[in-house]
Amino acid sequence: MLLPYCRLKPGDIWVDPAGKHLIGCGDAADSGFVKQIHSKASPPTLAIQDPPYNLVFGKKMPVAEFIEWCQNWISHCRSVLNKNSALYIWLGADQKNHFRPLPEFMSMMSTTDFKSRSFITMRNQRGYGTQQNWMAARQELLYYTLGIPKFKVSYTDIPKVLKGYYKEIDGRKLENIERSKSPNIRAGNVWIDIQQVFYRMEENVNGCFAQKPLKAIERIIESSSSVGETVTDLFAHSGTTLIACEKLGRRCVTFDLDPIFAEICIRRLERFRGTGKTGWQLGHPFERELKRKLSDSLSNQIAAVK
Ligand SMILES: C[S@@+](CC[C@H](N)C(=O)[O-])C[C@H]1O[C@@H](n2cnc3c(N)ncnc32)[C@H](O)[C@@H]1O
Repeated sequence: MLLPYCRLKPGDIWVDPAGKHLIGCGDAADSGFVKQIHSKASPPTLAIQDPPYNLVFGKKMPVAEFIEWCQNWISHCRSVLNKNSALYIWLGADQKNHFRPLPEFMSMMSTTDFKSRSFITMRNQRGYGTQQNWMAARQELLYYTLGIPKFKVSYTDIPKVLKGYYKEIDGRKLENIERSKSPNIRAGNVWIDIQQVFYRMEENVNGCFAQKPLKAIERIIESSSSVGETVTDLFAHSGTTLIACEKLGRRCVTFDLDPIFAEICIRRLERFRGTGKTGWQLGHPFERELKRKLSDSLSNQIAAVK
């Protein structure tokens, strides 16, 4: 129903008229496409990947097959990265099935030349579960590097409250807070200060079931890339990496297998540039077309009754 309104078909690439980003419709497992879209930009210093967990082409995959698929796109991603770069991967862990595919994925990564750097957990505000288990409220984020990429310490919005920790410097006793670079606490590898996306938030994109919060992606981009550099995301979906890059002056190369998500990315960027809004909140990226379709079909029905 929405496909006729999509500008890209599989294999197509949209070149940003402002000369910044590239948005494609393609397959992360297709090395030719990954190379082609990246050939139009400088080698990315940062990759942020959010693959569908165990679900490829909408069907559930056995773990071994999923890992083989991941190994494939990771190697394509590796081949286009700058020699000093960072790679972040969001991955699920099924607590009812030995936390798969996380251990298998970590083990597969140990066979590559990426160095493991951190295992970050982001806390969701809404969890799920039963009265018989701990509420599941976490999202896992793995951080790897190639070569020696830059890293900039970032701070949360949480003020430092811990007092009474003194250190003597040059004969003067200084409070911890006096010596720190920020009045707020540093972002460590447990993020509790990020609101997961829900429909009342401006950044919400209706129709996107797996949207990551802009604040999380902005934190990654600010810590692991510099202004003007290229950031790559092979699983675009709602275009969160794209919008974060636009806000922070980075260039984004991103694509999705599904032409509808590729179109949503283009529309989200155009909307942000036109209105400053990061999403549709209660609206919809295809609201104009859907309204028109609805009113056409209503008129047809009324005409048929007359
Ligand atoms: C978990 S979502 C990414 C969410 C994204 N980080 C965001 O904030 O909107 C995964 C996306 O990957 C896409 N996808 C699945 N298989 C793919 C493939 N082989 N190549 C490229 N994209 C794929 C899906 O269509 C889906 O939109």
